[in-house]
Amino acid sequence: MVVCSSCGATNRDGARFCDSCAAPLGEVAPLREARKTVTVFFCDVSGSTALGERIDPESLRAVMARYFEVAKTILERHGGTVEKFIGDAVMAVFGVPAVHEDDALRALRAAEELRDGLGSLNDELERSFGTRLELRIGVNTGEVVTGTAERIATGDAVNVAARLEQAAPPGEVLFGEETLRHVRGAVEVEPAEPVAAKGKAEPVAAYRLVAVKAAAGPRRGGAPMVGRRRQRNLLEDTFANVVGERSCQLFTVLGTAGVGKSRLVAEFLGSLEDATVVRGRCLSYGEGIGYWPVTEVVKQLLRDGDGAGAALGTILGDESAAGSADEIAWAFRKLLEVHAAEQPVVVVFDDIHWGEPAFLDLIEHVADLSRDAPILLLCLARPELLELRPAWSGGKLNATNVLLEPLAPAESRELIEALLRAEEIDAGLRDRILDSAAGNPLFVEEMVAMLAEQDQAEVSVPPTIHALLAARLDQLDTSERHVLERGSVEGQIFHRGAVAALAPEETRIDGRLVSLVRKDLVRPERPVVADDEAFRFRHLLIRDTAYEGLPKAVRAELHERFAAWLNSHADELVESYELVGYHLDRAYRYRVELGPPDDAAHTLAERAAEYLLVGAERARARGDNGGVGALLSRAVELLPADSPERRAALVELAIVLTERGDFSGAEAARKEAGLAARAAGDDRVLARLLLAETEAQIMSSPDLTMRGALARAEQALGELERVGDEDGAAWALMLVGNFNAWLGSSAEAERLWLRALNRAEKVSPRRANEVRAWMIWALWWGPTFVDEGIRRCAEIKRQSTSKRLEATAMLIGGVLKAASGALDEGRVEAAAGRALFEELGDVVWWAGTSMVLGDIELNAGANERAYELLSDGHASLARYQETGYLSTVVGYRAQAALELGRVDEALELADETERLAQPDDFEPHARLRIVRARALGRRGEIDAADDLIRQAAEIVEPTDYMIMHLDLAFARADVDQLAGRMDGGRKALERAVEVAEAKGHRVAAERARRWSAEL
Ligand SMILES: Nc1ncnc2c1ncn2[C@@H]1O[C@H](COP(=O)(O)OP(=O)(O)OP(=O)(O)O)[C@@H](O)[C@H]1O
Ligand SMILES: [Mg+2]
Repeated sequence: MVVCSSCGATNRDGARFCDSCAAPLGEVAPLREARKTVTVFFCDVSGSTALGERIDPESLRAVMARYFEVAKTILERHGGTVEKFIGDAVMAVFGVPAVHEDDALRALRAAEELRDGLGSLNDELERSFGTRLELRIGVNTGEVVTGTAERIATGDAVNVAARLEQAAPPGEVLFGEETLRHVRGAVEVEPAEPVAAKGKAEPVAAYRLVAVKAAAGPRRGGAPMVGRRRQRNLLEDTFANVVGERSCQLFTVLGTAGVGKSRLVAEFLGSLEDATVVRGRCLSYGEGIGYWPVTEVVKQLLRDGDGAGAALGTILGDESAAGSADEIAWAFRKLLEVHAAEQPVVVVFDDIHWGEPAFLDLIEHVADLSRDAPILLLCLARPELLELRPAWSGGKLNATNVLLEPLAPAESRELIEALLRAEEIDAGLRDRILDSAAGNPLFVEEMVAMLAEQDQAEVSVPPTIHALLAARLDQLDTSERHVLERGSVEGQIFHRGAVAALAPEETRIDGRLVSLVRKDLVRPERPVVADDEAFRFRHLLIRDTAYEGLPKAVRAELHERFAAWLNSHADELVESYELVGYHLDRAYRYRVELGPPDDAAHTLAERAAEYLLVGAERARARGDNGGVGALLSRAVELLPADSPERRAALVELAIVLTERGDFSGAEAARKEAGLAARAAGDDRVLARLLLAETEAQIMSSPDLTMRGALARAEQALGELERVGDEDGAAWALMLVGNFNAWLGSSAEAERLWLRALNRAEKVSPRRANEVRAWMIWALWWGPTFVDEGIRRCAEIKRQSTSKRLEATAMLIGGVLKAASGALDEGRVEAAAGRALFEELGDVVWWAGTSMVLGDIELNAGANERAYELLSDGHASLARYQETGYLSTVVGYRAQAALELGRVDEALELADETERLAQPDDFEPHARLRIVRARALGRRGEIDAADDLIRQAAEIVEPTDYMIMHLDLAFARADVDQLAGRMDGGRKALERAVEVAEAKGHRVAAERARRWSAEL
């Protein structure tokens, strides 16, 4: 006896196809535990007690036996597996042994039939006992565990189905929310009172089944046709042949579920004129479905008064008629030919992958034997057809197969736009839909619809799609499924080696993989690990579906084993620590979901955290800050509250959050770290916290002075040296350097940075890169000669192992090139560096560095452009509530407004700069005075302007900020000129030339000379 893995029916030994659903019969699936979404059906008899009072127990038993039999027959016909009888109740599960894409609908069809169909049994009861049986039915869909030894399905969905049944009034069918999501459009429903269920805070939503619609509802559709021009043309050409040559053509459109076969054909048919179009559809299951599609076509073709003839009478249900398969095929062909003699006939057979062999034979018979009649046989099938019939339409001259590939990304995007109609969605979300749908229009449609219905910020697998894919995977034989699931643990792309490591008992992995490729579930992909092979799931959704079928305990074990496999390939993978940490973390999480963690689980958590922390540190060293915050947060969650690693990780997290402009999140992390460190007397972490806080406050709190910050950094330096934290000391020294620089002494800063670099290089590549980045910044504003700066930037960029350092070198190298006269080259390079910051997730840096690009444009006289860049930077920093870089950016923006002749605005921006700047942050204070001086000079207030220039000079002169010295000299010349003091102006410009030449700033020197000549 062979059990069909598709519908569960039993077949005789040696059968190759299932007698009841025609699916190919593979090996018998052994019991294997799996998670799957099934639909659970409960029904119970109401009134059986009353009946029991009226009739003899023996008769009652007979009546109940009849009822059970009727119920069982109906449920099984629709593909349900009847589980057990509890009292008078019947339970059935749709989705075991194999899931079908329409399990929920099958359950409701069975419910409807049973509700309405106790007919003859009831008539009998009425006559004999004056009573009727009435059924209460509850149906619910949800995730359960199947394949356990004890029960066919275990899970909350089962309990809810039972509750719905108990709550259903006699003669009614109630079903749950999730079921509705699977059958939307195919049933008529009414909302019912929500049902209270034990152990649930909220009552469960319930719906009353009115009726199941006869034909499956159409897909959502709703968007104009996208793409498919080539396939349309081919179809039209083929039809032209049919008409022109009066020949029969077999045209098969192949493609995975939802790729658009039916839609393509609908579009084609919509444009047809002068043709008889008839359609038939293969059903996924049902009684006597063999010729169903042919029957449908015949009914459409027979005209009043036509006799069907003996052969066709057989398939029309005429019990007196009898025809063999050949006779039926012959008669069918003749019928088509008669009609084709009048005008061309198009016969559409949809979903023929569900067709039975006799039906497929019939199509080939017509294609082979029809002569001199314009007939287009248009068949639609999923690629499974070729598993059933590898030679379909092969060897025929009049046959064409067309495979519908997924839509191109641009077409998918067009489809999303059309479906959203003008509605805005987040670009990230749109990209995730694009990614997950991978060109399948049905998936796109369902995901967009889910967004609209649930208003959620995430896309998950829509239930209907999940059912579709789960059904496809349940068709696989156990070993193929096994291999696919092991692959899904790695991700959308997986390696053969990993599968082998996770499935050591599997001896024929290569064969399975080839078969999975042939079934188009995975495709070969370039491996990341050398000497291995890799595969990519055709859809992320297929990978998710395969993965979700694994019980959590198995997932936990596989993730842990996969981490071990990864570890053995660590040197070939860039992000191996993150990856190992990620998989250990998954393993831990699943264990926690299944029950309170034991010692082994705690160890797992700590190992996971260890890897995540190394991963975070390495990512920081690469200057790739994008995912670092997540790695650190996760590690913090995994580590015990009193662990020193956790305290240290919290400090790192605070730093990362600061860099991303999340100042309040950073503060919370610091607070938590502070509490833990004080409780443990951890001086090292306390000193580091002081640094982290100082760094954050210098960016966010105008009250902290540069000198105050300097004092704190020096204090922390002492502490860190005392506790022997070399990396911490290098960090403190670096900050001491920074504050010196921001107080105006780049030369002193340079000395400090060199010392910091020396110490950092020995202990932390990441810290060393941070120090280098600050040294690069000083090449811009400090006394280093421009050409030398360009050379150093190029060298650092060449050697850099950190993206962030590279970005800084490009940015500053760019501004220096522009200063040297290579404007266009400099612009491009600086902009590329800045874009890299954005890509790396360094959003505060990205916004702050608008000052550098603004400087380039101001020097180039492109004032509009400068103003725009600086306004953008201003807005972004203000959004993060950053004030440190902002004061400089706003000062520059004031300068740009002034260059554009907007004097009032310039003055307002100068005022804003003053409010933002720390009292001893000399740069904004000097710049705002320069702007005010020039603005007031334009208003003729020369005395006030002179006074402001004097103030600015007092601030700038003690510093070695060469670019500020330049701006000062130009401002002085400007005010002198406005005052009519041409000699003064020339002198100021001489000073500008002097500074510019000392710095190697050719553009400024040139400008000063030109200006001087004009005076
Ligand atoms: N090229 C397209 N442009 C716009 N919408 C499309 C396109 N192709 C398909 N669709 C839409 O995507 C959905 C799925 O398409 P369709 O029903 O034709 O898929 P199918 O290949 O016939 O799937 P199945 O194998 O399940 O029958 C439909 O709503 C359809 O309108
Ligand atoms: Mg279709």
